[in-house]
Amino acid sequence: MTTPAVAATTIPEPTKPIMNSTVTSVDIENDGPLFPSSLISPEIISILPTDYTIRPLRRSDYKRGYLDVLRVLTTVGEISEEAWNQRYDWIASRNDEYYMLVVCDGQDNIVGTGSLIVERKFIHSLGMVGHIEDIAVEKNQQGKKLGLRIIQALDFVAEKVGCYKSILDCSEANEGFYVKCGFKRAGLEMAHYY
Ligand code: ACO
Repeated sequence: MTTPAVAATTIPEPTKPIMNSTVTSVDIENDGPLFPSSLISPEIISILPTDYTIRPLRRSDYKRGYLDVLRVLTTVGEISEEAWNQRYDWIASRNDEYYMLVVCDGQDNIVGTGSLIVERKFIHSLGMVGHIEDIAVEKNQQGKKLGLRIIQALDFVAEKVGCYKSILDCSEANEGFYVKCGFKRAGLEMAHYY
């Protein structure tokens, strides 16, 4: 993939160090953002509630409650830190395909997340399609426009990296939310479970 043409922006480098004796220098060295912070919309950063941040996922987010936020969405299972690290490293090795971001509150707890997975096609002149996945906002943080900001931030990434559209699947109950985010019904989801 070509390097995204993004203007350099000043992004607040997130997060206080985790005050946890199990964090080693290896963890700290291996804890960069999953994708360039310059892909986070400065406008979205500026309109978040005071002290909240939005940034790319980091390996250490296991310890900031990332999986608990996803539990608002669906079952996650019991995932050890070792298993998390393995999956994180696999995703990080494809960081021009996986764009996962988090919203943190003023105490550096993760309170929301969303992912964009970029599919590269032959059709539409080698077009790229963004798939928006796993949007979740912690229950007691819902209604503060964080979900909307997550979608807007993912839209910004999708456009910057060259997607010609983004698509998603959702329940009827969430249709109104995505309409508020600017999406419209297009087609029909079908599934085959294995
Ligand atoms: N139906 C209709 N409108 C809604 C809904 C809904 N289910 N949820 C929010 N809205 C509206 C809000 O009222 C608001 O409207 P307004 O601008 O007129 O005030 C607007 O949408 C933006 O709402 P936010 O405050 O940004 O929504 P929130 O931060 O609460 O996040 C979300 C919405 C992500 C759906 C949250 O409720 C959540 O995490 N739900 C559980 C997990 C889930 O279902 N995730 C989506 C799965 S689909 C996918 O991942 C592709």
